[in-house]
Amino acid sequence: MKHTLGLSAGFHDAAVSLIDSHGEIVFAGHSERYSKIKNDADIHPDLVAELYGYDIGTVAYYERPLVKQLRQLYSGQGFEWDKISTKKIVRQQLKPKLLGDAKIKNYNHHLCHAAAGFQTSTFDRATVVVIDAVGEFETITIWGAEYDKKGRAVYRKLWQQNYPHSIGLFYSAVTSRVGLRPLDEEYILMGMAAYGKADVRQRMQLDLIDNEWEIRFKQNLHTGLATKYLSDYSDFDIAAGAQDLVEDLILNVMTRAKKLDWSRNLVYMGGVALNCAANRRIGAYFDNIWIMPCPSDGGSSLGAAALAYGHRVNWRNAYLGHDIPGPYPVNDILDELLVRKIVGVASGRAEFGPRALGNRSLLADPRGSEIKERVNDIKRRQQFRPFAPVILEELADTYFDMPRGFEHSRYMQSVARCRVPELFPAIVHADGTSRVQTVPKDGSGIRELLEKWYVMTDCPMLLNTSLNIRGEPMVNDRADADRFEQLYGVKVCS
Ligand SMILES: [Fe+2]
Repeated sequence: MKHTLGLSAGFHDAAVSLIDSHGEIVFAGHSERYSKIKNDADIHPDLVAELYGYDIGTVAYYERPLVKQLRQLYSGQGFEWDKISTKKIVRQQLKPKLLGDAKIKNYNHHLCHAAAGFQTSTFDRATVVVIDAVGEFETITIWGAEYDKKGRAVYRKLWQQNYPHSIGLFYSAVTSRVGLRPLDEEYILMGMAAYGKADVRQRMQLDLIDNEWEIRFKQNLHTGLATKYLSDYSDFDIAAGAQDLVEDLILNVMTRAKKLDWSRNLVYMGGVALNCAANRRIGAYFDNIWIMPCPSDGGSSLGAAALAYGHRVNWRNAYLGHDIPGPYPVNDILDELLVRKIVGVASGRAEFGPRALGNRSLLADPRGSEIKERVNDIKRRQQFRPFAPVILEELADTYFDMPRGFEHSRYMQSVARCRVPELFPAIVHADGTSRVQTVPKDGSGIRELLEKWYVMTDCPMLLNTSLNIRGEPMVNDRADADRFEQLYGVKVCS
């Protein structure tokens, strides 16, 4: 059986996705989990080893390298002759042993984002919005997507904005301005926003935005903001102003997408789709929303593979990476939780995308005031950062005001206002919201754990954060889990 392999590599967040000839996703994983280098740009040999034994007919690369080099030349970043050939890049990233005589293709960067979303969705027709930092030249695209009579996905580009006018580059520039790592720590900037006053937003808008409807900026923010820009404001206020502004820019794009009147189904992709605080506001614009759990460039490995495959891809869940075999250790986890201990779990297949969804998680009882500090101490994180709840889906509405479009928040893609924050301070942010993961009756290990936990405690949720050693990506294999246990003295069940 011939398989199709998608590859995203060479810039940041290198990843591979493998689809079989029936549209099943056989494997999808991130290189950083193997190399332990956050956002690793290159494919690690141990990730390649996961793919041995499969007959690969086609390798699909997630962007057009020559066009990207032309944009870099245009933007003054220089032109790298050795990075214009897809074949050369693919051969450098993947072993010849794996490639064999596979055909090598490439696709447009934003089209790969679009396909990763549309072809994993249940929609027959959808409006696809892609917002990221920059692809080759595009920074925002809106597509009309549908299947033809033979079931092949067809995309029509309805609107685009180009470099350097970019919502993603704006947010990354502010991330850098407050001393965080751009293209990595944008989620921390989003968390900081709840602690600041957004008064600075008007000034930011006047200084930086030329046309907020067209999403045109007055300057190229790829080079960042001046280090002293807004130095009379705190970093938290700058974060709040930027979040406020970015949410309105995103909503302007959504308004445009709705007006184009292609479909009432929205597929939303690109790195900016990870902004779960902004996402709670987009439900008002469409009837149904799908954000593939890995909407950023790593997920485009799946998009490239989907384009080469051509048809709908069978999305079941996000557990697509390295496998730690064995039954989910429900009783071992409960033994720890019931004596108020924090406990790790590394079981089954690793999550594809940035969120731990129960297979590589650190779990705790979310009730009580001291638990947030204890978990933050273990993870050596900034104390202001809250944690997320994982809850039985049918009870989510009782505890959270789930926003329209995200009534089922299975991949933590939106925040929701907590109805009883005083009972669960560890999982509620300063603005009263939580990034909720709802778990349906899907037979998963985390579902069985929550059901038993609820029977024993009357509490339908747990605190859930990613299982990772400080500064490293999430735990991947059993050896990582053992290392976590030794370093932090927290039991990791597997
Ligand atoms: Fe992208």
